[in-house]
Amino acid sequence: MSEVLAVCRNVDRFFLSGSRDHALVLRNVNCEIREGERIALSGPSGSGKTTLLHILGGLDHPTGGEIEWPSLGTVEQLRPRQIGFIFQSPSLFPALTVAQNVELPVILSGGDALYDGKDASALLSAFSLGDVADKLPEELSGGQAQRVAMVRALALRPRLVLADEPTGQLDGTTAQSLMDRVLEHLEGTRAAMVVATHDQAIALRMTIRWTIDHGRLTSGNSSEKG
Ligand SMILES: Nc1ncnc2c1ncn2[C@@H]1O[C@H](COP(=O)(O)OP(=O)(O)OP(=O)(O)O)[C@@H](O)[C@H]1O
Ligand SMILES: [Mg+2]
Repeated sequence: MSEVLAVCRNVDRFFLSGSRDHALVLRNVNCEIREGERIALSGPSGSGKTTLLHILGGLDHPTGGEIEWPSLGTVEQLRPRQIGFIFQSPSLFPALTVAQNVELPVILSGGDALYDGKDASALLSAFSLGDVADKLPEELSGGQAQRVAMVRALALRPRLVLADEPTGQLDGTTAQSLMDRVLEHLEGTRAAMVVATHDQAIALRMTIRWTIDHGRLTSGNSSEKG
């Protein structure tokens, strides 16, 4: 039986906001992520995708219910080693080159855990980013920055990859080819991946589909689980 990486039980998240004092953004969310799963999280803008990913990644906390990471450890241990997070807005360090951005989490975690022993430039080349390895983030296009953020999230071989609209700034063909490479990289590892996306073609690449609407999560179309 595959290990459970994360489990949400009756998770609510509300924000206190000016006019509406109780904006309930996640409502009674129950979900589970197991090793090796490929999950697409779809839903309209404002439905709660980013909020849920932040909670799954331990970056935010439920206001009701609970979340646990049974085989990843405590919330302090999640990032960067156990969970690789790709943020919706590009989050590269502006003063570091692309290669240094990819190496930084590896160095900070005291490890030499780059994917398959590759160094940052080999990993970047595998994602067609070899020629920008020495550039600064400001010299990249939005789509290149997104791909670098993806490579950085994979560099530590996390057991769970949480990607928030990782292809939002890419054209359809580039988006598909990025997903090809990511899925290729994850193949053979037991890592799980959750991708929040508006792009149905990307969602269809995943084997499990979650849909969120007004903070309520439903899952379906699970063609292959566990
Ligand atoms: N820190 C916050 N304070 C108040 N409201 C928030 C906060 N973060 C999110 N929200 C609200 O929660 C709702 C869900 O936001 P969220 O970012 O999770 O949606 P989303 O599904 O990721 O949308 P998108 O597809 O546009 O990225 C929105 O109504 C948003 O305004
Ligand atoms: Mg979002």
